[in-house]
Amino acid sequence: QSTTELDLSKIAPGQAIKTTFRKQPLFVRNLTQKEMDEADLVDVGTLRDPQTLEQRTKAGHKNWLITLGVCTHLGCIPLGAAEGENRGQYGGYFCPCHGSQYDTAARIRKGPAPKNLEVPPYNFTSDTTVTVG
Ligand code: FES
Repeated sequence: QSTTELDLSKIAPGQAIKTTFRKQPLFVRNLTQKEMDEADLVDVGTLRDPQTLEQRTKAGHKNWLITLGVCTHLGCIPLGAAEGENRGQYGGYFCPCHGSQYDTAARIRKGPAPKNLEVPPYNFTSDTTVTVG
């Protein structure tokens, strides 16, 4: 079982990066306050895969959204992690294969995907270092 060490120190608020974890795409996003507020304003009961942003992040590090970059429909890599990419109608990620739209907590909001982007097991080892896996 391999783990992946991430250095978060160069990811500015509002930025996301695409890296890999066990050969799968991994998205690491530093949410702005506005993006966190947008996620919190959603009535969780209306969601297809009901989860709060708190449940998808670590206590004290709610701004760090770490998910697999694998669409839960048929496995395409959604857009939205790289600079200038289409983040879709809900400001998170957009899957170009069949139009799934994910919000700023990477929760499925529209389109065929059944589930939110998966949050892998990870831990903060310092304020700017995360070990995934
Ligand atoms: Fe993403 Fe189908 S694989 S919408």
